[in-house]
Amino acid sequence: MARLAVLASGNGSNFQAIVEALRAAAAAGGRRHGCVLLVHDRRAAYAAERARALGVPARYLPYAGRSREEAEAELAAALDEAGAELVALAGFMRLLSPAFVAARRGRVVNVHPAVLPAWPGAGSIRRAYEAGAAEFGATVHFVDEGMDTGPILIQEAFRPAPGSSLAEIERATHEIEHRIYPRAVLGLLDAIEAEGRA
Ligand code: GAR
Repeated sequence: MARLAVLASGNGSNFQAIVEALRAAAAAGGRRHGCVLLVHDRRAAYAAERARALGVPARYLPYAGRSREEAEAELAAALDEAGAELVALAGFMRLLSPAFVAARRGRVVNVHPAVLPAWPGAGSIRRAYEAGAAEFGATVHFVDEGMDTGPILIQEAFRPAPGSSLAEIERATHEIEHRIYPRAVLGLLDAIEAEGRA
């Protein structure tokens, strides 16, 4: 078994898709990885509700009123306490510090709703839509010091039918995310478990 922690700021649909995929893989036999912690930096994040419903321990990590380093020290302690070997950012809208990333290189992944390196940053689907982009999609990548810049693990693109609405494109993008992110996370947890056995 390898242990995953997820960091989220909002809705948490990717968090839920990952937890369900881990449980489905365990039920199918063999791959018994666990999501041991959800960390959310917004008190009212719906991801926390999902964690309660899924039975995943959740921890609120406020950033307000203190430095990023102080918040990250608490984050690091929570991850260590939970024994997390892989960290998945799922709509976590904060940049991790270079020191935090360097200490966990190759062990922190992110999903982004665009075909990186196109459209990094927040609000990427809307910005691409408003610019008249022909191609949309999603990317899973390792986290490095930049914003949505680390080495790419999986990427899938699509070309919406002419006249598609923003809502239709968002829905299609999230469907891709919910498919490729759990797949990437499961693969990494398999590799971490295999490393532990070697
Ligand atoms: C997802 O579309 C994710 O790719 C995006 O936030 C959304 C969170 O949805 N992340 C970024 O834009 C990071 N730059 P969710 O909370 O329902 O998983």
